[in-house]
Amino acid sequence: MDWICGNLADYRGLLGSGCIGVEDGFIRSVRKAPGRGRVRDYTGTGYIVSPGLIDIHVHLRGLEYSYKETEETGGRAAAASGITLVIDMPNTLPRADNRETVRAKLEALSRAPVDHGLFAAIPRDPRRVEELLSEAIAGFKVYPEDLYERSGGVKGALSSGSLVVLHPELPEAGSAVAEDLVSREAHRNCGFEAAAVEVLAGMGGGRVHVTHASCRSTIIAAKKHGYTVDVTPHHLFYSTLTGAGCMYRVNPPLRPWHEPSWLVYMLLEGLVDAFASDHAPHALWEKSDPLYCSPGIPWLESWPWLVYRLVSVGALDLSEFLWLASRGPAVVAGLEDYGVIREGARGNILVYDPRAVWRFPGPAYSMARHYPSTMARMAGRPIEVLVGGETVFIGGEVIEGVRGVNPFTWRRP
Ligand code: NCD
Ligand code: ZN
Repeated sequence: MDWICGNLADYRGLLGSGCIGVEDGFIRSVRKAPGRGRVRDYTGTGYIVSPGLIDIHVHLRGLEYSYKETEETGGRAAAASGITLVIDMPNTLPRADNRETVRAKLEALSRAPVDHGLFAAIPRDPRRVEELLSEAIAGFKVYPEDLYERSGGVKGALSSGSLVVLHPELPEAGSAVAEDLVSREAHRNCGFEAAAVEVLAGMGGGRVHVTHASCRSTIIAAKKHGYTVDVTPHHLFYSTLTGAGCMYRVNPPLRPWHEPSWLVYMLLEGLVDAFASDHAPHALWEKSDPLYCSPGIPWLESWPWLVYRLVSVGALDLSEFLWLASRGPAVVAGLEDYGVIREGARGNILVYDPRAVWRFPGPAYSMARHYPSTMARMAGRPIEVLVGGETVFIGGEVIEGVRGVNPFTWRRP
């Protein structure tokens, strides 16, 4: 058995000093002193040993979008920031709404150094929902157009009992004529978000998660229906005042400053279930050519430590952070064996220095070169990251050769 010892913490808070014994990918023992085997001892260093972080909304691209990012480059970026499970989105080329593409994506994801899942896209033919249910998917992603163009498939996904993740905007929001970011936000406003939640709710009951809520009213709409909800680092930390270039163009758009303030307030009130980054890498030319100006902000290599600033300034408790960045997303995804330090849980572990203050120098692993967080001040820094008990990041570098698993092969969504 491999042991990792130190100051243990998870969503229940600081658990005291102890040792985690991992074997065959899972935690087999949690105790005061290590047993027989290899021991890595962080006792007395001031570091915290917590469950690995989880990001349930990323675009690792791959397939014909491999020029933007791949499952391997994005996976390494995740490992470098302490994220040990990512769930990938299906707006790939080709779209992951069929068995062949889903299998090709899962195959590519299996080469990532972190654990992974994949949401399937809603198929045009509702009868094909069934065929996707027999694949090891994490659930379905509903895009704005699906609400109108693939409503049969959306209803099928809802009634299947699998997790349905909603991009909460209506298609009309996308027809903005204004392209400068402030006017674009005024057109593509908060009203479309709450409305999309209502439209989905009108299509039937189900297990629904509302992703990247950018407005207070979206969270209220989601909670009214008993849905879970996540917020992104950009909607929390950036506003229309932060920046107006293509670098900051994203869907849903950045909001006027009062919305981020509301999101932080609602986060502290416990109304948010998870952080999710919506890591959306593009090629530099797509982000710098005003004719493209593709929407999306890349995050995988930096976001946990930007968000950790909320802990370092005392706004968010450590336990709340470890809920929102690890246990919460695990619960949303239906993965009971993640985000917690206990026997039987997956051996995904993050050792980090909670006192570190640094500036993110820009990505070393992600292919995206348009990180708005470059040179931003970060708080807390990963020291060692383990996936299934194997070290995947140490000494500031990602270790080659580690492969994650897809936990959705263990249990159907
Ligand atoms: C996403 C992307 O690039 O795939 N972009 C974005 O602005 N969020 C698309 C999406 O998640 O809707
Ligand atoms: Zn997205």
